[in-house]
Amino acid sequence: MQHTKQEVIKALLPAFTVPNKNEGSGFAPTNIALCKYWGKRDIELNLPFTSSLSISLGNYGATTKVSFADSSIDQVKLNNQTIATNTVFYRRIVEFLDLIRPTNDAVFNVVTHTNIPIAAGLASSACGFAALVQALADLFEWPLTSQQLSILARLGSGSACRSLWHGFVQWQAGSDLMGMDSYAYPLDEYQWPELRVGLVLIDQSQKSFSSRDAMQASVESSPFYALWPATVAQALDRTHTALRTKDFWTLGSVAEANALAMHAIMLSTTPAIIYSQAATLSCMQQVWRARAEGLSIFFTQDAGPNLKLLFLSKDEAKVRELFAEIQVVAPFSYVPQPVESI
Ligand code: PMV
Repeated sequence: MQHTKQEVIKALLPAFTVPNKNEGSGFAPTNIALCKYWGKRDIELNLPFTSSLSISLGNYGATTKVSFADSSIDQVKLNNQTIATNTVFYRRIVEFLDLIRPTNDAVFNVVTHTNIPIAAGLASSACGFAALVQALADLFEWPLTSQQLSILARLGSGSACRSLWHGFVQWQAGSDLMGMDSYAYPLDEYQWPELRVGLVLIDQSQKSFSSRDAMQASVESSPFYALWPATVAQALDRTHTALRTKDFWTLGSVAEANALAMHAIMLSTTPAIIYSQAATLSCMQQVWRARAEGLSIFFTQDAGPNLKLLFLSKDEAKVRELFAEIQVVAPFSYVPQPVESI
């Protein structure tokens, strides 16, 4: 039976309370999947066919404040700009707010600051919805566990359910039709302070095809989609072993192969989906050349042309020499964001 988002909200928040506070706030890091989520078993609830595993990007993410507004419609501001009501961005936020609006005439003011490029395959919707859920939970003082908040964030955007924690995070696919067992949890047993993620920004413009539409098209028409669940299951297994034994070569090769397998599925979708640009391919070749010369460096790619490089701190100087424009993130050395300053 098909369930609705409203039913999930009702199960999690049976009674809406009037907040005692005027404002709620939250920060969520963005996350990069090492074993990707690609394809939904339930489109409405963002329930995936497979589990996935990510690394959060420390201080790169979204900081959001939510309060009640005096205006007649919700106000959404992103990086000091008011978002027009006819944009997909605005509609997605308002659709989410509709789910938790305590009364029909309650109107919200949402102010978000991000320090990552929007919609360029850097998982901005992930940290955006996770920060919004944290801010709403703070405003309404919801008595929810972090797993339940992860379910709420998933309703906004699948990968957002992984953005509630730092470090390595796993989203278990679950099998419940209402998705009550489809949430993420932190893999705190795996700490890897030497791990670095390098962001290679190839193109910061908005992507033409959303990951939401692209993954659905893949499920419906790629002849290789049937191979995806077993591919991810094996990648997850090998990633856990690599994390447990701190085997960086295995971690990187599995992540790179998993990203390429996801893009192979897109390539075999009708019509074909290609996020890579010429510069994406030459960057991949540069990574392969560096590896052939002995450098432990790998890449992963999401629904956009940008690449994220994986390497260890001991090789940072060498990587910076090879990739001049790179932004380097140390996922395990984040400092809490000053939410009050936005
Ligand atoms: O959560 P969405 O709908 O933005 O999809 C994210 C899809 C990928 O970034 C390509 C993979 C992932 O697991 O994050």
